[in-house]
Amino acid sequence: MKLHNFSAGPGILPKEVLEKAAQACLDFNGSGLSILEVSHRGKNIIEVFDKASALVKKLLKLDDSYDVLFLQGGASTQFAMVPANFLGKKAAYLNTGVWAKKAIKEARLYGEVDVIASSEDKNFSYLPKTFDVPSNVDYFHFTSNNTIYGTQMRNFPEASVPLMCDMSSDIFSHEFDASKFSLIYAGAQKNMGPAGSTMVIIKKELLDKQVRTLPSMQSYKIHADAESMFNTPPVFAVYVSMLTLEWLDNNGGVAWAEKRNQAKADLFYSELDRNSQFVGTVDKADRSFMNANFIMSDSSKEEAFKQMLKEAGISGMNGHRSVGGFRASMYNALDITSVEALVDVMQNFEKLNA
Ligand SMILES: Cc1ncc(COP(=O)(O)O)c(C=O)c1O
Repeated sequence: MKLHNFSAGPGILPKEVLEKAAQACLDFNGSGLSILEVSHRGKNIIEVFDKASALVKKLLKLDDSYDVLFLQGGASTQFAMVPANFLGKKAAYLNTGVWAKKAIKEARLYGEVDVIASSEDKNFSYLPKTFDVPSNVDYFHFTSNNTIYGTQMRNFPEASVPLMCDMSSDIFSHEFDASKFSLIYAGAQKNMGPAGSTMVIIKKELLDKQVRTLPSMQSYKIHADAESMFNTPPVFAVYVSMLTLEWLDNNGGVAWAEKRNQAKADLFYSELDRNSQFVGTVDKADRSFMNANFIMSDSSKEEAFKQMLKEAGISGMNGHRSVGGFRASMYNALDITSVEALVDVMQNFEKLNA
């Protein structure tokens, strides 16, 4: 039996994507070879990369003023690459959680960082709202979805400087105007594919604005000029991302995903608010559609709840080790029937314990 996968990441992928990926491991498109054992320079692999880039642009309604790169080193490498390439003097950052803090730490290696707002005073349980993005900085960086705490920004700040965003855990989950951004990055392993590939969407005009000499592997320009093949790329991870993007596109794209994610979030959060046994941990206005965090009203009952989740075939619900409690991650590929199964367990738990 396939479990209901609420893992925060690597997260759930569509079943048909996994089936196609498994087949490609044995015989890639009838080539007589596994996708794992062929050169990345082959025509059929270059086609995969081209298709993945084209799908990213189509799904986010971006034109050819953007390049799409598939890099390695995870989103964590982007925390350093963004400032290495573009922080000349000073950049503005928003501090909304662990990942934002890590990005700030790396940026400080390269220049001055102005943390224009933070929600650390309340353990990142809300999103800062009253801040102005200064105009005298090289760029403004923020995290759209705080995977660990379960807050999500779905309306984005205005800025006169380039906007750069870590969208690792909510890319393609709702519609937004991507053309307002100069750079977006996302580790693939939540809404896109397996770990191993990190997508970077970058405005082409930025490629010539690298502020310092860098090792080749850290330069966006070098990766862009080499069409993501400066070194041996993670072909399989990009292939699975391409399949997931194709799945999304065939089903109706980001608008479809948004509707589905809204329905899942509505179902889950209305139960959370109704049920006497559970308490949400973030401000309602800032709740994430992707990661829903909660604790139990009586923490001594955690083990009993975990046992019921297990019996219902529900997996991946433990909160991050730094916050505890529970976290239901409801990425694009999760079907609403999984959320229904979770809500059933919550209701049964209440009947037994209220
Ligand atoms: C929002 C966000 N940014 C960055 C990261 C780090 O990604 P990686 O492990 O790919 O470096 C994560 C991982 O969960 C994340 O959720």
